[in-house]
Amino acid sequence: MSAAPEIAASASKLPELEPRARALASLRRPLGRDLSAAELHAFVKDLADRPELWIELVTHDRGKRRYDELLSDAHLTAWLICWMDDHDTGFHDHDVSCGAVAVVSGAVREQRLVISGPPRDRTFRAGASFHFSASDIHRVRHTGSDPAVTLHVYSPPLLRMGAYAIAEDGVLARRAMSSSEELRPDARS
Ligand SMILES: [Fe+2]
Repeated sequence: MSAAPEIAASASKLPELEPRARALASLRRPLGRDLSAAELHAFVKDLADRPELWIELVTHDRGKRRYDELLSDAHLTAWLICWMDDHDTGFHDHDVSCGAVAVVSGAVREQRLVISGPPRDRTFRAGASFHFSASDIHRVRHTGSDPAVTLHVYSPPLLRMGAYAIAEDGVLARRAMSSSEELRPDARS
């Protein structure tokens, strides 16, 4: 399979967008189709290297994760998320979307749900990145004493998610939800 050429949208074709949105939309990536997990991984690392595109949006709130949508189009969504004080998504999936995350400050801990044992646990610190496919279920939590900032990209665009909870009888259930809802950990997960 031949890879689609990596193309940057011409800035001159994006006159209606404000400068930051224009710069974000013109970052190099395959155009006209969804991105693979590996392509998203490359894109989020490029985005991490361009702090002027998101640094002004960094705001920490002790009470909850703060998130801002940076970019949304037919094939890609990008979010900036600010974490502190053990903020936690709970276990969730991303419906049909692949995704990638870059940690630009602080640290987050990712867990993958394992039925027969404890979750697989990885910690990602500033400068690290990871990606996931639509079939993966994970949980992301803030860790460490310093606030964290992460960049998240999804393709196809993240519209739906599934949140996982364990009922009183131990049965695991998935709740479908909109990406506009806030992921929260279930008390029993
Ligand atoms: Fe996620």
